Amino acid sequence: MRHLLSAADLTGEQIGSILNTAEEMHQLQGRAIKKLPTLRGRTVVNMFFEDSTRTRTSFEMAGKWMSADTINVAAKGSSVSKGESMRDTMLTLDAMGVDCFVIRHPSSGAVAQAAGWVRAHVVNAGDGTHEHPTQALLDAFAIRRHFRQLGTEGWVGKKIAIVGDLLHSRVVRSNVLLQRTLGSEVILVAPPTLLPTGVEEWGCQVTHDLDSVLAEVDVVMMLRVQRERMQGGFFPSAREYTEFYGLTPERLNRLKDGAAICHPGPMNRGLEISSAAADASRSLILDQVTAGVSVRMSVLYHLLGGDDSQGATR
Ligand code: NCD
Repeated sequence: MRHLLSAADLTGEQIGSILNTAEEMHQLQGRAIKKLPTLRGRTVVNMFFEDSTRTRTSFEMAGKWMSADTINVAAKGSSVSKGESMRDTMLTLDAMGVDCFVIRHPSSGAVAQAAGWVRAHVVNAGDGTHEHPTQALLDAFAIRRHFRQLGTEGWVGKKIAIVGDLLHSRVVRSNVLLQRTLGSEVILVAPPTLLPTGVEEWGCQVTHDLDSVLAEVDVVMMLRVQRERMQGGFFPSAREYTEFYGLTPERLNRLKDGAAICHPGPMNRGLEISSAAADASRSLILDQVTAGVSVRMSVLYHLLGGDDSQGATR
């Protein structure tokens, strides 16, 4: 694997391999000293041209826990703010001997374009409203663990509803691609104004009626209402949005036994998800965050340390 740009790049076998290595990495969470020598001498640059808490921090921790040298470059504070193009900035860093770029960018397609400029590996950490493949991988990891703990084998035959602002979400596209490769059924739930164009070609059931599918799904993945990407009104009021599309305490009670709640974060508590749902015992939201470090370690290992015959955790 040279780059990770899209969930569509991954075969079922590759997804399985990434998740299994992530499972080994996950054991580090219980250790006092979280350090492996696996990527010693490798340099990973995090280039975030858009705000982020969990993705940027977890990529940085993932690199550090495997002994890579990790460097953060933000648009503000780099020569990008002096007018240097992203291409020149990346060529400059590439010429210093960087091994991997982890890039988040507000424009869809920018990360794939950047991958064509450099010698180093490139990971897409979110490009515009397009894709966020490591989020889909960590969601799959958390979901698989949840069902394994319940005694069922992974996600075979599982139904996943993805609910909310699908129009502005890169998480939904990556999840649909990845979950379909894995053989799950994905149901998309959103008001008509928050559905991406062409969604009928994604091969998923699409509905505007959350209540009609709520009781039958194994996972309900709530997405954030991305107000920073909205100009104008996509729904009449926050109250009305919550009434029709929020995971309210009342809807929480209608989920079936064993069904899990996911949210990639950051959450708008009280809008798309109630605190009762976010903090419920069936909520995987913090498990997703923890999974983020393990899965990103595994992705970096697959890209940078794959030839290491010593194994991932030695
Ligand atoms: C998501 C993102 O940035 O795409 N968050 C994340 O990476 N955990 C979703 C969002 O911003 O709502």
